[in-house]
Amino acid sequence: MAPYPEEIDVFSAPHSRMKALVDVYLEKLTCTDFTDYAALESLLHDLHHTFCEFKSHEQIENKYIMKKLKKRLKLLSIHDAAVCNCHSDNKLSDMLALVEDGYSCTSKTEAERINFGLKLRQALQEFTGSFLPHMKEEEEVFQPMLMKYFEYEELKCLKEQVIEEHSKW
Ligand code: FEO
Repeated sequence: MAPYPEEIDVFSAPHSRMKALVDVYLEKLTCTDFTDYAALESLLHDLHHTFCEFKSHEQIENKYIMKKLKKRLKLLSIHDAAVCNCHSDNKLSDMLALVEDGYSCTSKTEAERINFGLKLRQALQEFTGSFLPHMKEEEEVFQPMLMKYFEYEELKCLKEQVIEEHSKW
């Protein structure tokens, strides 16, 4: 856990859940036999659910954290590229599209399923390689920034909203 008071730490708790989801898919990825139709379908089903949850996490952060942080910085005439570019890529949408593509492979040949498996494994490794540092940046850079530019009570309220929104998932 990051060294911030828990009641104003907006990232750590949701990120524990996201990191657990990463561990689950990495584990499942290592033991999935892509020649097996049912195994591939099961992995795709789990991945679809996971990436929809990641997407929801991102939307919650955008609405309840990043938008407010950007607004606060603008009021103070501060420009921060990391804040402005946070979540500006399409990695989650690309992963969801790849997973959806995979469903068409469940009716294809064994060789095609194996090829898809290699592509999926590579894409998941690349995604994970940027998602974990992304969460670390939010915890280690954006959280202190929030604490610098927001009042304690504002952050308490924001944390409650963030947790409540995640609990709807
Ligand atoms: Fe907390 Fe932007 O992932």
